Amino acid sequence: MFRTQTCGELRLANVGQQITLSGWVQRTRKMGGMTFVDIRDRYGITQLVFNQDVNAELCDQANKLGREFVIQVTGEVAERSNKNANMETGEVEILVTEMNILNEAKTPPFTIEDNTDGGDDIRMKYRYLDLRRNSVRQNLELRHKITFEIRRYLDQMQFLEVETPILIGSTPEGARDFVVPSRMNPGEFYALPQSPQLFKQLLMVSGFDRYFQIAKCFRDEDLRADRQPEFTQIDCEMSFVDQEDVLNIFEGMMKHLFKFVKNIDIAEAFPRMTWQDAMKYYGSDKPDIRFDMKFVELKDAVSGHDFVVFDSVPYVAGICATGCAGYTRKQLDELTDFVKRPQIGAKGLVYIRCEVDGSFKSSVDKFYSNDDLKAIATLFDAQPGDLILILAGNKIKTQKALCELRLEVAGRLGLRDKNVYAPLWVIDFPLFEWDEETQRYYATHHPFTSPNLDDVPLLDTDAGQVRATAYDMVINGVELGGGSIRIHDSALQNRMFELLGFTPEKAEAQFGFLMSAFQYGAPPHGGLAFGLDRLVSLFAGLDSIRDCIAFPKNNSGRDVMADAPSVIDQAQLDELNLIIDIKEK
Ligand code: AMO
Repeated sequence: MFRTQTCGELRLANVGQQITLSGWVQRTRKMGGMTFVDIRDRYGITQLVFNQDVNAELCDQANKLGREFVIQVTGEVAERSNKNANMETGEVEILVTEMNILNEAKTPPFTIEDNTDGGDDIRMKYRYLDLRRNSVRQNLELRHKITFEIRRYLDQMQFLEVETPILIGSTPEGARDFVVPSRMNPGEFYALPQSPQLFKQLLMVSGFDRYFQIAKCFRDEDLRADRQPEFTQIDCEMSFVDQEDVLNIFEGMMKHLFKFVKNIDIAEAFPRMTWQDAMKYYGSDKPDIRFDMKFVELKDAVSGHDFVVFDSVPYVAGICATGCAGYTRKQLDELTDFVKRPQIGAKGLVYIRCEVDGSFKSSVDKFYSNDDLKAIATLFDAQPGDLILILAGNKIKTQKALCELRLEVAGRLGLRDKNVYAPLWVIDFPLFEWDEETQRYYATHHPFTSPNLDDVPLLDTDAGQVRATAYDMVINGVELGGGSIRIHDSALQNRMFELLGFTPEKAEAQFGFLMSAFQYGAPPHGGLAFGLDRLVSLFAGLDSIRDCIAFPKNNSGRDVMADAPSVIDQAQLDELNLIIDIKEK
């Protein structure tokens, strides 16, 4: 038997017992004739004591232990004289009588401590050591707990977990596919699924009624803190439902998770916001509503004062930063530099200080009288002591920039508390997005999303105005999940393909099997998918989803530990009928 207990288990009640522990050496301290060794496993840390006077040979052996050696010890549990309240096992120690070195270890390249000295790259290269650290392991424990509770909830709700294939044809989700050459079908490729979208719809045609899957998805897109090339979805689909049914079930799932994972009871319904309002008031389809600071559009209020910056652009809008009138020149310059960053792209920032004495001071005093500024401040319902920040320009770009500014200011004001959760449904997304470059419509969600049936007549006259029956769940400004009610009627689906520029042949080649299935009695259906990695990082308060993935990729999509992707040898290429011709590296 390697152990009788784990390293996190022993308490005062165990004093006097003979026990055996196995684990890793966290650290060794020699104090006079005593040697203290902390032994660690997944469950905790226990202090071991070796006494030179009691067993000199054993104590010498303990003095030679290196960090991360794997050992097995047997001894008696004793009460500690100087107890450590920071350790769960801090009231006891083990008076070791036997020790067995199960494996030696090279000195690890960084310390296996909560605050490690290892940088990002080295920790990724030795991820298996990084995973020994409490903080990283706790994220994976949380991930386990979340997936466990998801399965428990969905099982109660009659959902069946069904696996769908990883080697498939291309799914039209909008990102680039990862492809896999087929040896048995020379010149042909599988694609890895961007999501199980088509398969879950087919399962509805098959009568499965309620499906879910904790599904691996693959997208070859540019990576960010909330994006990995392979990530996990909680993918769900339901038959005989409308939007209301889907929102209720999954709002219920999220409340279940808050309750059983975070111990937070959310009694009230999640607020809902149309996409139109989200864009108008927050400049984003995933607004962070932990705080208010809504946009106020100002074009009418500020035009006609000979201020060419405002007169010459289609869109002027601002936000009101509560209590920030006292911002110094330096702080205002910082905000100006922030909005002028190339990735944000504003040309400049106009401010109005609502002074505590009731007067106004602004960077555009030359063009606006005190009364003019007062009238603008009234639109924001600004109070003495507040600061109004205004951007102007092209509508979409300026909304995006103002959205970033809003988040930046809120961050500075401490309004983005990671322990506060503000869930929201964003609904009524547009069905299509127009792309200037290619002069065509793209599906905002995906081509299987049903238009709002009230808007169907607009498909022929003003497709850009058609609302989709699509919804996203957003929490704290993070798009956690999204889905839609699907088209289950072949004629409407064909019309969608047509509007999206698919020829009948191309639609047939890509989705022929789905269209064919729809001819055999497709039930009305809909669903959604959550990003599991995003959900776990939200619950854990992480800045990047990488930290809750056991073996993540870096920002260039590389697994630096396994050194993937890598070149394959000529024999493998030959077998796959592939010739590599790299144009540029
Ligand atoms: P969508 O493309 O919106 O919808 O994806 C659903 C959710 O998956 C997460 N997600 C990601 N997480 C990490 N890294 C990525 N690269 C990544 N891409 C997406 C997000 C997102 O909200 N088939 C549809 C769902 C449906 O209609 O039912 C779909 O995949 O949290």
